[in-house]
Amino acid sequence: MSIEKQPQNQTSNRRTFLSRLWIGLGLVALVQFLGGALAFLVSGTGKKVASKPLFIEVGPVDNFAPGSVTLIRQGELYLNRLEDGGFLALSRKCTHLGCAIAWDEEQKLFACPCHASTFDKSGRVLKAPAPRPLDQHPLVIENGNLSIDIETRRRRQSIKPEQLTYAVKKG
Ligand code: FES
Repeated sequence: MSIEKQPQNQTSNRRTFLSRLWIGLGLVALVQFLGGALAFLVSGTGKKVASKPLFIEVGPVDNFAPGSVTLIRQGELYLNRLEDGGFLALSRKCTHLGCAIAWDEEQKLFACPCHASTFDKSGRVLKAPAPRPLDQHPLVIENGNLSIDIETRRRRQSIKPEQLTYAVKKG
């Protein structure tokens, strides 16, 4: 009798184990989904991703030639000076899933190593899956010196001329 019961117990234990495993996996998936949904909702509620500004000085404007792209490691951002002299500070975070983009000097574009999105120098999407342009950091020019807010990132849906900052107003 006891010999016949043992396989049933084993089967029952296996079923219990598998049930618990599935429940555990289901809970993990649920938590991941809820975390992702929450992050999406929070990031989509405003233009600013961070709220407490922290400006760092990066030097005189003349240190950055028109057409240059400079990595500012402290802020995980790129400081771009476009050919017309306008400055733009762009987050390194890809707008797809947040991998760090890198400037490709040869091709003159930003490339994401994760899923191959590319962006032009102003942060405009050249190749999906990135859904929108690179985020922008506020910057100010005072007495010829550049400072960038490394904590604040502004989401952009499009590229506009007013996003550029000039040492001397154009016009
Ligand atoms: S994280 Fe950059 S393309 Fe996916």
